[in-house]
Amino acid sequence: MSLLPALLGHRGARVEAPENTLVGIARAAELGATWVEVDVKLSGDGQLILMHDETLERTTSGSGKLADTSWEQIEALDAGAWFDERYAGERVPLLSQVIARLVELGLGANLEIKPCPGREAETGRAVALQVAADWPDTLPAPVLSSFEADALLAARDAAPGLLRGLLVEDLPDDWHARMTALDCTTLHVGQRSLLSAQVSAVKTAEVPLMVYTVNNAARAKELWSWGVDAIVTDDLAALLPGAPR
Ligand code: G3P
Ligand code: MG
Repeated sequence: MSLLPALLGHRGARVEAPENTLVGIARAAELGATWVEVDVKLSGDGQLILMHDETLERTTSGSGKLADTSWEQIEALDAGAWFDERYAGERVPLLSQVIARLVELGLGANLEIKPCPGREAETGRAVALQVAADWPDTLPAPVLSSFEADALLAARDAAPGLLRGLLVEDLPDDWHARMTALDCTTLHVGQRSLLSAQVSAVKTAEVPLMVYTVNNAARAKELWSWGVDAIVTDDLAALLPGAPR
């Protein structure tokens, strides 16, 4: 069986619900997704939460740096009203709450380790330890991915049995050597500059390939036809009808 699904909801269901929230994850499941991608960071006081940015302004009612903010302060913020008043009252979730919701919904996940600067190893270690302790056997094995080498190595050292993926924006010529050095199983590449010949090279090496972020159904079909295993999209409703089963 493939390690990766054909389609994942990016930060939950980003077109339809506030990103990196429990309601967004539930919306992805309602739309028919079987997996989501979410971004995991540490609060100032070391709690694992979902958030993309280093600062609070864009996706919460707070302001300032996440790294300077405690979980108690984050917990009081609104993480839904910025997206739509309908979602007012939605909170920033802890990773533990996310895992519980994934279990309820039967969803798999790609957990992107997205450290605040300077906390790469600490974040990678914390994510791996929590996933190793709490991830249930009833769900597909999660994939821990990161752009940060130190986060991937720390995750590997903390919980060697978990699947890890190397994230890059453009595919570098030395992608295979980097994956080997970082002990990664999956490769996660930005879609913008990706060419058919590069996909062929990755598939010849039998490396599972995830591509982000694709919101155009025709481009998604092209990528799947080239042999891409998994596509991450903001727009599940647009891409799901054409997704391979
Ligand atoms: O994991 C794929 C994608 O989410 C990486 O970029 O900035 O959207 O987290 P970003
Ligand atoms: Mg991400």
